[in-house]
Amino acid sequence: MKAIFTTLLAGCALVGFASGQSAGISPIPAPTTPVIQIGRGMNLGSMLEESRDGDWNAAIHEDYFPIIRQAGFTLIRVPISWTQHVSPAPDYAIDPAFLSRVDWVVAQAQKNDLQAILDYHNDGALMYDPAANADRFIAIWKQVAEHYKNAPSSILFELLNEPNKKLDVPQWNDLLERALAAVRATKPARPLVNGPGRSNRIDQLQNLVLPDGDSHLLVTVHFYDPMSFTHQGAQWVKDGDAWLGNTWKGTDAEKLAVTAAFDKAAEWGRAHHRPIFLGEFGAYHMGDIDSRTRWISFVARTAESHGFSWAYWEFSHGFGVYDPEAHAWREPLLEALMPK
Ligand code: GLC
Repeated sequence: MKAIFTTLLAGCALVGFASGQSAGISPIPAPTTPVIQIGRGMNLGSMLEESRDGDWNAAIHEDYFPIIRQAGFTLIRVPISWTQHVSPAPDYAIDPAFLSRVDWVVAQAQKNDLQAILDYHNDGALMYDPAANADRFIAIWKQVAEHYKNAPSSILFELLNEPNKKLDVPQWNDLLERALAAVRATKPARPLVNGPGRSNRIDQLQNLVLPDGDSHLLVTVHFYDPMSFTHQGAQWVKDGDAWLGNTWKGTDAEKLAVTAAFDKAAEWGRAHHRPIFLGEFGAYHMGDIDSRTRWISFVARTAESHGFSWAYWEFSHGFGVYDPEAHAWREPLLEALMPK
């Protein structure tokens, strides 16, 4: 296990909580297992995602990168809707103008000493008809891997956000194997982020199949429980409106639901020698600010005490911790993520 830890740290030059290297991050207890860490991160949700309903994209500005870094975050996760920007079959060529936009984000991350996860997001066609859309998925990854083959290991790839629907667990395991082979062809040591099926749920870790010999993999999970609190008022979720007014008080039972889930994820990570990355957690803006602050703080601290890196969902959009109109952090939420 120690050998794996050392290789990963040397190979990926990733930032560790346990080492306390990052400016502004106070040391937290060392994880009980030797895991690599990519630190505390922020999702740039909706910025490189295509419009679902005409009111989807959030603006992305150059000053956001230093603002995020100066608050102490060391990582951005960038959800990207690649499929909206490719030519038809059989080439599926990525639109050069769009690729330049991604290049700009990567350059801003590097300039500001931020690691960046390029996350493949919003491929609904793949979820509804995996067989018909797998070739496009692989073709896109081949191009992205080739394009960034000389980028440093601080640029990570996340192969697929939240596999779900007809892309069930066995099909996702098969497709993941193909995608890993495609991406590994250009840079074998690139750190890659992969998650289990059914929307990266913790209870699906047990069904995730990863190649034994590949030690440059982080395993991601998403956590929004209870949905009836975090997704109250969310228009894209059934019952979202019925949940309005729900609170999160931090009772023993509420806390236990978080710790029990994270115990399971940590146990899986230990057994499989894989670092765990909580790639998304967040509370939608329709909840009351005190409950959101309590939940965010408890989830972030519990992730850290379990040795997980994390990225909050999300910077400036619906779950946002930053107010783009006021050009200011929402202080209680930022404080919940990054206690002084
Ligand atoms: C998932 C979805 C994203 C959504 C978030 C919270 O990442 O892909 O669209 O905003 O979860 O529901």
